[in-house]
Amino acid sequence: METMIKNAVAHYEQLLREQIARAENLNAAKKQKDENKTVIGLIDGDGIGPIIMAEAKRALEKLLADEMAAGTIELRVIEGLTIENRLALGQAVPDQVMAEIKKCDVLLKGPTTTPSGGKMESANVSLRRALDLYANVRPVCVPEENIDWTFFRENTEGEYTLGSRGVEIPGLLSMDFKVTTVEGTRRIARSAFEFARKNGKTHVAIVTKSNIMKKTDGLFSAICHEVAAEYPEIQADEYYIDIMSANLVNKQIRSNFQVFVLPNLYGDIITDEAAQIQGGVGTAGSANTGTEYAMFEAIHGSAPRLIAEGLGDYANPESILTAACMLLRHIGLAEKAEKLTAAIQAARAVKPVDAAIPGNTCAAFGDEVLKQM
Ligand code: IPM
Ligand code: MG
Repeated sequence: METMIKNAVAHYEQLLREQIARAENLNAAKKQKDENKTVIGLIDGDGIGPIIMAEAKRALEKLLADEMAAGTIELRVIEGLTIENRLALGQAVPDQVMAEIKKCDVLLKGPTTTPSGGKMESANVSLRRALDLYANVRPVCVPEENIDWTFFRENTEGEYTLGSRGVEIPGLLSMDFKVTTVEGTRRIARSAFEFARKNGKTHVAIVTKSNIMKKTDGLFSAICHEVAAEYPEIQADEYYIDIMSANLVNKQIRSNFQVFVLPNLYGDIITDEAAQIQGGVGTAGSANTGTEYAMFEAIHGSAPRLIAEGLGDYANPESILTAACMLLRHIGLAEKAEKLTAAIQAARAVKPVDAAIPGNTCAAFGDEVLKQM
């Protein structure tokens, strides 16, 4: 037991030193960029990933045909980020794949499978950290109900930073660690308040559990309030995550919310809830942005259950197509993004993906999107 305690303390010291170094060096990463060309990396992922990505690729090829011909945009397929390859190499993101990814400017990524338990970290978490994609932006809209929400989920800290590096005393207990940094919080808070200001939003909800997680969420809350003070025209209120989860299913008040800023894990959970209100996690896209890179993806996972049931062809590509819209907007092609958004909406009305209707497959939806464009 004494040896285990000593090892755990040494491990903790190592983690603390690493996190201090990280906190002191946030925003340091810089990449070389060819100013004349935008490289869009396409990563299939696992499970339903290749199935839904095929439709996103077709849509982008059609929308960007002129730019690709002129050489100002390249669509570059990146192979090898598969669960088989990652397990074989024992790396969450194999080095060679990471090197290819870093040569791109923006990425569209299908869902990747995360083995539960064990030591292997999620590919998503590794990529978000390696590319310093600190802002996870997830819009949710239900026009009929006047719901227009944008979630700013902190994407590199909280429970995720050291989620694969906890300690255990076998047979007795396990401990994980949660990390919140001042600068890490400040930059996500700024993203949320800047977005609110630029988009005429009047309210930002800061969501924490600072009554219980006193150090980490306490810091998150304090920094968010500090940033809020620079935006006097925007009302900022703090809510605990439990009551906010209830508020989102309260039809009397939910349309009053506009912008949310929250730590990583709460953001993970509540954005699935919000997406369900919009029509399911299969409908929601997500942007992971940092100062150098940006990665766009569906908010859901690789759906192994759907594959096991033989229903992979009925995976809904709306999520990844919506992510593609966000990518287009991010690289300054708002008009093309609008075109794709309209085509997705039209396709949903004509040929919604539905396993109960033979023929209403993922590919048929993609065909319809192409036709509508
Ligand atoms: C998400 C996903 C990921 C997360 C998984 C796949 C690691 O649930 O993007 O919300 O937990 O962040
Ligand atoms: Mg999630």
